[in-house]
Amino acid sequence: MSFIAKIIGTGAYLPERVLTNRDLEQMVETSNEWIVTRTGIEERRIARADEYPSTMGVEAAKRALADANIAPEQVDLILVATLTPDYIFPSTACLIQHAIGAKRAAAFDLQAACSGYLYALSMAKAFVETGAYCNVLVIASEKLSSITNYKDRSTCVLFGDGAAACVISAQGEGLAIEAIQLGADGEQANLLMMPAGGSRNPPSVETLAQELHFIKMAGNEVFKHAVRRMESACKDCLDRIGLVEEDVSWLIPHQANLRIIDAIANRFKHLPEERIFKTVQKYGNTSASSVGIALDELLKKARLKAGENILLTAFGGGFTWGAAVLRSVGERYA
Ligand code: ACO
Repeated sequence: MSFIAKIIGTGAYLPERVLTNRDLEQMVETSNEWIVTRTGIEERRIARADEYPSTMGVEAAKRALADANIAPEQVDLILVATLTPDYIFPSTACLIQHAIGAKRAAAFDLQAACSGYLYALSMAKAFVETGAYCNVLVIASEKLSSITNYKDRSTCVLFGDGAAACVISAQGEGLAIEAIQLGADGEQANLLMMPAGGSRNPPSVETLAQELHFIKMAGNEVFKHAVRRMESACKDCLDRIGLVEEDVSWLIPHQANLRIIDAIANRFKHLPEERIFKTVQKYGNTSASSVGIALDELLKKARLKAGENILLTAFGGGFTWGAAVLRSVGERYA
């Protein structure tokens, strides 16, 4: 018996609090003009002190389950992609499993930085298509504000908080996960990292004094790799299933920087500008959640027809990257 993994429901959660570029002007030496010109970001959402990746993930998960018409008891597996888990252990996936009452589900976290949503989708696809599980709940949830140094203007203007979720199933109608292409290059690990907090540099008075519990990024280097890797991942992914650029209805790139998105768009000459979906202006870079939040928003705004292809791509710390092609199948897209 063969199974085809489909996204049968999506959801997202963005915290209420908005941090604008004007607010940041009061916090560090920056300007709305610099941030908009260099990144395209106008504002981002910041979680409350009592909101965490687990609680934001629960909200996104409930919305995705409702959209998919699936009860928590029907979920077989929960995968959570995050680089800002509530705790190093237990996993955020276990906290969410309990909070939503998914009593039958196995649960674990995975960490692929900003590519986490695509890495999780790929695992969900494999579990569903081998017949191991029927319903997999994928969640990406990030509280980047907890590891952002609001004294460092080169990073603090970029990041925001938020969560996304989707239900992947062998049953029902939705977006068939046609292909996924993943990649990694650990040689570049030091260009984008949080140096302390793990077992190599456990928290200490020294690591705190040296501000090693924050995101460190060589922005320029990351920029170049991001464009190159996302472009080739997209092209390889399309190639694998015999599609060309003209077959793509929508491109959702990782929402890190409008200039990165534009650079990728320039390499897809046949894709009209309005078919490249962007949320970075409103939410900044929400890491693993970014592509999932944008996908949920696109599905709620656009009326997809049957047979449309959505191309997702992401790039992040590690380095990690990936691309996926989703195709709308079934009568709900008539
Ligand atoms: N406001 C004002 N000036 C600033 C700011 C700021 N917020 N930040 C930096 N500057 C200054 C710098 O100090 C520098 O000044 P100098 O020329 O006097 O030295 C100047 O602006 C230019 O700095 P650059 O770093 O060269 O600026 P750049 O155009 O590269 O933009 C940015 C920086 C926005 C970080 C860009 O490099 C970028 O987006 N990189 C990629 C980020 C990314 O994609 N991350 C993805 C993964 S994230 C993850 O995995 C968690």
